[in-house]
Amino acid sequence: MVIEKEKGTKGFIDLAKRRGFFWQSSEIYGGVSGMFDYGPVGLLLKRKFINKWRKFFVEQENDVYEIETSLIQPEKVFDASGHLSSFIDPITQCKKCNSIFRADNLIEEITKEFVEGKKPEEMTEIIREKGIRCTKCKGELADVKVFNLMLKTFLSPTGDEIAYLRPETAQGIFVNFKNILVATRAKLPFGVAQLGTSFRNEISPRQWIIRLRAFNQMEVEWFFNPKESNHPKFKEIENVKIRILTRESQKTNGKDVTLTAKEAVEKGIVPNQYLAYYLAKEAQFYQSVGLTFEMFRFRHMLPEETPHYSKGNFDLEINFDFGWKEVVGNAYRTDHDLKNHIKKSGVDLSVTLGDGSKVIPHVVEPSFGIERTIYGILLSCYKDDKERGWELFAFPPDLAPYTAGIFPLVNKDGLQEKAEEVFKILKKHFDVFYDDRGSIGKRYARADEIGTPFCITIDYDTKDDDTITLRDRDSTKQSRVKIKDLIETISKLIKSM
Ligand code: GAP
Repeated sequence: MVIEKEKGTKGFIDLAKRRGFFWQSSEIYGGVSGMFDYGPVGLLLKRKFINKWRKFFVEQENDVYEIETSLIQPEKVFDASGHLSSFIDPITQCKKCNSIFRADNLIEEITKEFVEGKKPEEMTEIIREKGIRCTKCKGELADVKVFNLMLKTFLSPTGDEIAYLRPETAQGIFVNFKNILVATRAKLPFGVAQLGTSFRNEISPRQWIIRLRAFNQMEVEWFFNPKESNHPKFKEIENVKIRILTRESQKTNGKDVTLTAKEAVEKGIVPNQYLAYYLAKEAQFYQSVGLTFEMFRFRHMLPEETPHYSKGNFDLEINFDFGWKEVVGNAYRTDHDLKNHIKKSGVDLSVTLGDGSKVIPHVVEPSFGIERTIYGILLSCYKDDKERGWELFAFPPDLAPYTAGIFPLVNKDGLQEKAEEVFKILKKHFDVFYDDRGSIGKRYARADEIGTPFCITIDYDTKDDDTITLRDRDSTKQSRVKIKDLIETISKLIKSM
């Protein structure tokens, strides 16, 4: 069976749209850019992805606590975190047609020069010097100014209680740090995880679900004593290979290096075991959700891109059909957030150690984007199988929206009733769907298109010997299995794939 994968075409996006993974938000009113809704199969895929992440980064760890905090937070939180003053993008507007552009993106697209971190005045100067004009009407561009990406709201009818939709889930963790300590009696090092929706008023949402105004994040804040350098579980992952694009190679040949997590720390490329632990776990996790080792790398962010308080940021980037793009931000945030919340709130957020001394913990943070990762999974799992005559998503079985489709061969002679029986049995254990419309070939095609690993057909033999036909999505091979053995057989197959 030849499965061709057409990288570079947008076949996977068309298929995902057609099969209702995502819909543009408020489509009947023309849609809103940068906002998407999940359809039934998209939501199942997202849930399974989250479950897998939770298993990997929360449940398999002994000392990571998950919390869920408010989506709206008062202005004071973002004053302390620095978002009020620094969560900004440079923009410029066309004086003729009023189109708005992200100034850094526009300059980089036209001049191919990297301008991130430059001041608005410097960008204005480049626009004037290089004669950059509006890409839509060639009009003159206004001076560059800054725009805060947070979405503002008011908590009282008088409008004097300003609040913001959270731009990251992390601040909900920092402001609850004391509550967490009291409730869990956790000892350093430990982690706190949170997942949920974050909001950013992106100036130019683009690339389908890549740059959104409302998106979902999964974040862990790993708190540790900066005087201790050993991650308690580092041994478990020290030999895991990670691909790193170092700062040096970004300035020279652009080639990444493959190192073990241990080597990356010993060579001083990754600042500590805590950060290296997450890079290794992410390398394992991304391969378990259907990406190949070659599809992603960790880019050490350049000094000019790194926040002043950070001691090292490593972006997990996927090689998408449009180029490399960040999917997970890994940051060594030091004690920046806790320190600022102590200063602004007056609440002591230090931790008392065994010897009675106090420390403000340092933090390593992996911050995962759900929609960007799903884009990567769809791209990686998409196959255009010319031989079988239709496209499919070859999702890992534990990620597939549905585990199996159940089909009666014909809608007569009691086969439907038998198929419904099988459906009811399997539904207690797996996400399954029932389909009795169209030819069996069409039903296989529909199941493959949404990435269903198994199809179960109930035929005339089923009535005689209680066996069904089990079809494997990837090989299309079929085998006879007794109904009473189905749950065990499918469970074993899922584990072995
Ligand atoms: N707490 C740190 C933080 O939020 P970030 O690098 O700004 O770091 C983390 O975001 C991840 O969230 C990104 O790697 C990306 O996957 C996702 N993300 C950020 N902005 C996004 C947007 N506008 N649309 C979709 N995903 C976004």
